[in-house]
Amino acid sequence: MGDIVEDKASFYSNAEGYWKDVPPTVDGMLGGYSSISSIDINGSKAFLKRFLGDGEGKTGTGCALDCGAGIGRITKRLLLPLFQTVDLVDVTQEFLEKAKSYLGDEGKRVGNYICCGLQDFVPEARRYDVIWIQWVIGHLTDDHLVDFLHRCQKALRPGGLVVVKDNVSYEGVIPDEVDSSVCRDLGIVRSLVARAGLRIVHEEQQMNLPKEIYQVHTLALR
Ligand SMILES: C[S@@+](CC[C@H](N)C(=O)[O-])C[C@H]1O[C@@H](n2cnc3c(N)ncnc32)[C@H](O)[C@@H]1O
Repeated sequence: MGDIVEDKASFYSNAEGYWKDVPPTVDGMLGGYSSISSIDINGSKAFLKRFLGDGEGKTGTGCALDCGAGIGRITKRLLLPLFQTVDLVDVTQEFLEKAKSYLGDEGKRVGNYICCGLQDFVPEARRYDVIWIQWVIGHLTDDHLVDFLHRCQKALRPGGLVVVKDNVSYEGVIPDEVDSSVCRDLGIVRSLVARAGLRIVHEEQQMNLPKEIYQVHTLALR
């Protein structure tokens, strides 16, 4: 598939403008669907726990990276309870500022708050046990997503895991002019993962979401 994004500069600047006007709340992060946050987090916890632990092939619990972290909804309830240190990266400075209070006392274990677009972000080599990328891949062009996933692979510690959790369309690429993003079907996401040189080691659909929203799938990659 070719990239359907024609004007990359305005694709990114329109998205930045959109998120600047969104309130720094869980409801803001989830487009008004704060009621699904617990379902999402519990599904993610069960998904991730199968990989964590000691021994051959297991993923460590030293350091995680939350990509497109927003105010730290996932950092607070999924990553800080499971990892010693968590870094957050997001393009919206106001969300990262809010995260500093939203994360409360446990926020002391945040290593770095990084304000950067994922298309430009280079994670530190071999720093992370888990790189969590949720509800943000639609803000990257195909080529930028492939390159970013490839950089993430290099940023993993031995046994480390990249997790992509996102909306998927039934077929093709559906643009969203409002927040300047795209929603891809699962076949397209899988092919971009393969182009990045990563392998899908586990895949699940998030169940119990409202019928009117996109299906959400979680992919564990190495
Ligand atoms: C739908 S919210 C999801 C936030 C968080 N992942 C969650 O699930 O609670 C999308 C987030 O992606 C961020 N974002 C949008 N475009 C981005 C980009 N190019 N690079 C990094 N972050 C981006 C927004 O600022 C916003 O915080």
